[in-house]
Order: sequence, then structure tokens, then C-alpha cells
Amino acid sequence: MSGGTVVTDGVSSAPRTVQPVIELRAINKTYGKTQVLFDIDLTIERGQHVVLFGPSGSGKSTVLRSINLLAEPDSGSLRIDGVEFGPGLPGAAAVKRGGRLELRRRVGMVFQQFNLFPHLCALDNVALPLRKVQRMSKAKAREKAAIALRRVGLIDRAANYPAELSGGQQQRVAIARALALDPEVMLFDEPTSALDPELVGEVLKTMREVAETGMTMVVVTHELGFAKEIGDLNVFMEDGRIVESGPRGFYDNCTSDRAREFLKAVM
Ligand SMILES: Nc1ncnc2c1ncn2[C@@H]1O[C@H](COP(=O)(O)OP(=O)(O)OP(=O)(O)O)[C@@H](O)[C@H]1O
Ligand SMILES: [Mg+2]
Repeated sequence: MSGGTVVTDGVSSAPRTVQPVIELRAINKTYGKTQVLFDIDLTIERGQHVVLFGPSGSGKSTVLRSINLLAEPDSGSLRIDGVEFGPGLPGAAAVKRGGRLELRRRVGMVFQQFNLFPHLCALDNVALPLRKVQRMSKAKAREKAAIALRRVGLIDRAANYPAELSGGQQQRVAIARALALDPEVMLFDEPTSALDPELVGEVLKTMREVAETGMTMVVVTHELGFAKEIGDLNVFMEDGRIVESGPRGFYDNCTSDRAREFLKAVM
């Protein structure tokens, strides 16, 4: 695989090669005897905001978890910035291989359940991965954590424990924790699904602000309004396969009956 798309920038006549930030090729994943992903192909450009949607059990979380190797693909290629982190494809040209820690540094993830440590204040929840993954000193990690908390508007809650924060605030701390590692890509798995409806807006606002910085994002969400607003690339999954995908405007123009039925019923 050449691993690059040739585009013109409209100014210079010479085409330039854009390296996709994430490339999934023929990703397959089986749990026990059940195959849950079938030949998933997905190419994500830098700064692109991708929405994954589809019925429960269709494999959305497994695709996200493949991208950071929380779920290791059985076969297929996972490249981040051209570096191979998956099994790779037979016959593909030799490429640089990366390790798990390097991947964790590049890809941040936000889960439906915020997964904050209850015994650590907001600041230390954000600082901990900086110490573990980036091996920063405590003082430096706390300094960087404070900057991340400020980005999500929660610096005044730095000393509070998760139990003293609303669900929306806890999720924003979780977003700060991922951002603090300066990832190239942020994955969001139904980040607002566990929240009371009145708290959803503040988390979407924070995600919108992250998107506006040009961060590459892959988001699983049932919030149709937000998906329409943010989705540069929209991917509908069913039964472990990508059924259909499309650019902005996709939700009003999708062609498969299944995607249309799903949108009508759920979103
Ligand atoms: N760790 C696991 N062990 C066994 N089976 C799993 C595991 N994780 C997921 N599965 C199965 O893989 C399939 C896809 O699950 P996945 O969580 O990716 O779906 P999803 O689209 O995210 O669903 P939901 O909308 O409910 O979150 C399901 O059949 C699920 O039961
Ligand atoms: Mg899921």
C-alpha cells in the first residue's frame, strides 16, 4: 500500500501527498467463536471528525477499541501516521512497526463511563497518566493537568473529588485527562450516553471546542444533531460491517434501507 492520497491544494499546481492519520485495512476481530468485525476499512485524514453509528452490537466500540488496541485485531492493518500497530497485511511492503505505549501516547480515548479514580481529585486524575505514560515528575504533571482542566473550563474544580462533581463535569475531567497527553487522535465512545439530559450539552460543547482546535476525532454517538454538525465522515455499521459511509449531509442522503430505517427509529 502506498499509504497516501494525492490532492491539490488549489494554490500550487504540484499535488502533495497527504498521509492519512488513521488507516484501517481488512480489520477482523473474533471473540471466542463469534466474529464481531469483518474486513473493516477506514481512512481518516488529519483533522477529520468521524461519526460511527449503528445498532447495538454492530461493532462500533470494537472499531474504536481496535484503533488503540484495547481490542487487538486478529488480522488486518492498523496504521497511525503510516506506522503499523496491527498484525499487518500479507504481502504488504515492510513498514515501521510501533509498540503499544507509543500508540497510547498518540491516541486518547473517552468512555461512556468516565472511569475516574474516586480517591483522586480532578487534578490528580488528569495528572496520573502524565506520570505513568509520559513519566513526568509530579510537579510537571500537575502543571500540565491544570492547563488541560482550564481548557475544559474546570480549573476551579481541580481540588474536587469525582463524587463532588456532576456527571457532565466528570466527563469533562475525563476529556481533559485524554487531552493532557497531547494525542493526535481522540476517540469518544458514547460520551454522553450515561448523562442526565440536562448535562449532555456541556459535554458536547467541550467536544465541539476540541473539534475546533483541529483535533482528529472518531465519535460514537446517538446525538443526531451533534453528529450532523460535526461529522465530516459518517459511517453506518451493522453486524460487524461498514454498510455505508458518506460526507456531510449523509444523514439526509443515505441510500441503504438499513441506515435509513435505523436513523428513523433511533436518532
Ligand atoms: N470483550 C468481549 N468479549 C466478547 N464479546 C464481545 C466483547 N466485546 C464486544 N463483544 C461482542 O462484540 C459485538 C460488538 O460489540 P460492540 O461493543 O463493538 O458493539 P457496539 O456497536 O459498540 O454496541 P453498543 O451500541 O451496544 O455499544 C457484540 O456482539 C458484543 O457482544
Ligand atoms: Mg458500544
